[in-house]
Amino acid sequence: MTILAIETSCDETGVAVSRNGREILANQIFSQADLHALYGGVVPEIASRNHITVLAKLVEGALLEAGLQKSDLDAIAVTYAPGLIGALLVGVNFAKSMAYALGVPLIPVHHIHGHIAANYIAYPNLAPPFLCLVVSGGHSQLVDVRDYTDMEVIGSTRDDAAGECFDKVARVLGLGYPGGKALDDLSQGGDDQSYPLPRSTIDGAPLDMSFSGLKTAVINLIHNAEQKGETLDRSGLAASFAAAVSDALVPRTMQAAQKLAYQNICVAGGVAANSRIRKDLEAAAQQDSRKLYLPPLALCGDNAAMIACQAYYEKLPDSLEHLGLNAYATKPL
Ligand code: KG4
Ligand code: ZN
Repeated sequence: MTILAIETSCDETGVAVSRNGREILANQIFSQADLHALYGGVVPEIASRNHITVLAKLVEGALLEAGLQKSDLDAIAVTYAPGLIGALLVGVNFAKSMAYALGVPLIPVHHIHGHIAANYIAYPNLAPPFLCLVVSGGHSQLVDVRDYTDMEVIGSTRDDAAGECFDKVARVLGLGYPGGKALDDLSQGGDDQSYPLPRSTIDGAPLDMSFSGLKTAVINLIHNAEQKGETLDRSGLAASFAAAVSDALVPRTMQAAQKLAYQNICVAGGVAANSRIRKDLEAAAQQDSRKLYLPPLALCGDNAAMIACQAYYEKLPDSLEHLGLNAYATKPL
C-alpha cells in the first residue's frame, strides 16, 4: 500500500510517501518560518498563499525522491483538521483533486493522530495501547491511545498550549519566531533555580494543566527587570522556565500511565523536541520502570511523513467516499 500524504495545517508545507505505513519513501518539507518571523507569528493568509505556491512542486519532489510515478500511488492522504482553516483548505483541495484525477481513495487524517504516528515510524515494533503526551504549538494533551484510530484525551491544558507558552516567552526575550528551539538553546548551561516560577494545579482535575499563569509570570518578570534597569540572567531564566513547563508535564504523564496501567509512554509534537522535557521524561520513566518512546527531533515538528504513516491505519475508504471532504479548524481526536 503506497500512500502520498499532504500536510498544510500551519506554516510547514509537507508531502511524503509511505509504503505499508511505517516505511517512508519520501519526506519533503518546505518551512515558511522565515516568512512569518517578520511578523512574530504565523500570518494565516501568508501561510495559505505559500502552500498554494509550493505544493505541486513538493508533490513532484516527493515522487522523485520515492522513485515513483503518480500511477504507483494507491491512495492520497491529507490533514483535514485541526489547524488554520485557510491553510488546511489548500491541502484538502489539492489532495481531493489528486485523488479524483487518479481514481484512488482519499484518506482524511487528524493532525494529532499524525503526530502520535511519528512514533510508529521511529519504532517499528511499537503498537497501541500506550499513553501519549502530545505537546505542540496548539495542543497539550495526555492521550489514551487504545488503538491506531481509537483514542481519548484524559488530560489537557485549560488555556495555552505548552508550545504557545514557549513561543510567547521567546518573543518577549527577543528570540524571534518560532522561539521554542531558541529558548531551549538559551537554557543550555543555565541554572534552573535562578528564578522561582509558578507551578499550577487544577482542583479536582489532576491530569489537566494550565500554562497561562506561568507565561504571565515570566513576561511580568522580564518587563519588571527592564523597567528597573536590572540585567536578567537570560540563560537562567530560560532554564527556570523549561523546568517549570517540564514540571507541569512529566509528573502528570507518569500519573496518567499509572492510572491506565500502561507500560509504554510516547511523546509527540514540536515541544517533544525540548531537551529538558526529554531528559526529565527519561529519568521519570526509568524511575517508574516504564518504557519511553521519544520521536527523533526531525519527526517531532509538523511533517507529512507522520500523516502518510497514520493514513495506513485509517479505514480505507471507497474511491469516491471523501470527495466532499471539508477542513475543520478544531476537531476532537
Ligand atoms: O507540532 P508543531 O510543529 O506544530 C503544531 O502542531 O503546533 O509544534 C510547534 C511548536 C512551536 O511552539 C515551537 O516553538 C515548539 O513546537 N518547539 C519547541 C522546540 N522545538 C519546537 N519547544 C520547546 N523546545 C524545543 N526544542
Ligand atoms: Zn503539529
